[in-house]
Amino acid sequence: MSTATLSAPRTKTAKSPVKIRQTKMLIDGKWVDAADGKTFETLNPATGEVIARVAEGSKADVDKAARAARKAFDKGPWRKMSARERGRCLSRLADLIEKNADELATLETLDNGKPYKDSRNIDLPLTIECYRYYAGWADKIEGKTIPVSGPYFTYTRHEPVGVVGQIIPWNFPLLMQAWKWGPALAAGCAIVLKPAEQTPLTALRVGELAMEAGFPEGVVNIVPGYGETAGAAISEHAEIDKVAFTGSTEVGKLILQAAGRSNLKRVTLELGGKSPNIVFADADLDSALEGSFFGLFFNQGQCCCAGSRLFVENSVHDQFVEKMLQRTKKQKVGDPFDPNTTQGPQVSQEQFDKVMGYIDAGQKDGARMLTGGHRVGDKGYFIEPTVFAGVKDEMRIAREEIFGPVMSIIRFKDMDEVIERGNRTTYGLAAAVWTRDIGKAHRLAAEFRAGTVWINCYDVFDAAAPFGGYKMSGIGRELGEYALRNYTEVKTVTVAL
Ligand code: NAI
Ligand code: MG
Repeated sequence: MSTATLSAPRTKTAKSPVKIRQTKMLIDGKWVDAADGKTFETLNPATGEVIARVAEGSKADVDKAARAARKAFDKGPWRKMSARERGRCLSRLADLIEKNADELATLETLDNGKPYKDSRNIDLPLTIECYRYYAGWADKIEGKTIPVSGPYFTYTRHEPVGVVGQIIPWNFPLLMQAWKWGPALAAGCAIVLKPAEQTPLTALRVGELAMEAGFPEGVVNIVPGYGETAGAAISEHAEIDKVAFTGSTEVGKLILQAAGRSNLKRVTLELGGKSPNIVFADADLDSALEGSFFGLFFNQGQCCCAGSRLFVENSVHDQFVEKMLQRTKKQKVGDPFDPNTTQGPQVSQEQFDKVMGYIDAGQKDGARMLTGGHRVGDKGYFIEPTVFAGVKDEMRIAREEIFGPVMSIIRFKDMDEVIERGNRTTYGLAAAVWTRDIGKAHRLAAEFRAGTVWINCYDVFDAAAPFGGYKMSGIGRELGEYALRNYTEVKTVTVAL
């Protein structure tokens, strides 16, 4: 094994480090079992052991939740509540999440496997910020007055789109819920949320906090369950006005088709990526190295915007590769609750197998594996941080989303070439460039067909800054003022004068 510094995973297995308070589904303000009484297991990815059994939603439960949301939206106190009071509900939810941040971070790490340090210092603050940010928007969603011809007065109202279905993934469970709930609730929508089957626990706990924060019954409903059943029922539902999805490109297509077959519900999609990260010879190479390492290995490599095609300019390529190898050896894989751990397990057996498959493919296609490549330990879904050099554009590891701790380093010669090769992908979520030449940096920012471009940084997120994809990375933008458009309809009102 080339990565001798890795510690074997030691995981607290005997006793859960946190009390599991909620495993039922939230419908119409009540915590209930599935209509057919079914449950499913959620596992601790660090051990493969069962944490809890959770109510498994199916079509009948989605129906019930959609009806509750419909009622809350069409008739309930939610509709009559002032925008400012809606904002106060969101604000109280942010406060309650902050108050319970240690517990939520523990629950997140237990269910997802990410290092506790990251859950507590990254996921939780971003989640709280997101709710606070949208709390501020609730009473600032304004229409326009329009100068039309003739004796008329025309204005627009930005009204909530109605009942929204939200389907989220397992890589940032709390944060993805916040990205979806924040703008939807600020706009005055009612929600049916389906958390990922791998990580349902924090969503349910936030559901409890939302009830405590004073959201009226039926405004937020949570139906845990599988994609093919509960998820599909949401995307097919005729009473759901809009669906927001984050996950694989493959399922994104299914959701768009379901919307087309049913009621033409509005659809926004946040999908995969294969983001180019470009290091020029004139960059501050130390920060480029650290940023590129983080840009790929953060969250066990399970980021839609991971810098998974690392292009390095010829003249600095060999020294950069050598330094990256040394940097990678410092990564500590192991128990996510150990404060020294910098990399936890992949989320599931399925993801573990997928990533190992790509490590295999990289070797078979002739890329040079410099370090990593193996499983760590004999339980849980731990994988050594893996670095490939000599990667060619047409190899599978350079084209397909790996979603794991596997770095592909690719050589390039000059700016025009790297723009062309960087853009040669069906995805368009993010891109990054490292250089001290501001002209070059901004030219690249303009040329890349991607929703986000980072210059001399990576993975910098803010609730106020929109995020989303070009091409097959998605439809629409989340965060910022832009996300409010996903949850509002524009109504034109004309009055004869
Ligand atoms: P997925 O797209 O199957 O799952 C994401 C969510 O969609 C989950 O809540 C799931 O239950 C739901 N879902 C699945 N099938 C559905 C259907 N037919 N109708 C409605 N909802 C459905 O992603 P999965 O299988 O967890 O991961 C596969 C790959 O997708 C990953 O390896 C990664 O490449 C990519 N992915 C991308 C994410 C992102 O942040 N853009 C997040 C998670 C996965
Ligand atoms: Mg899937």
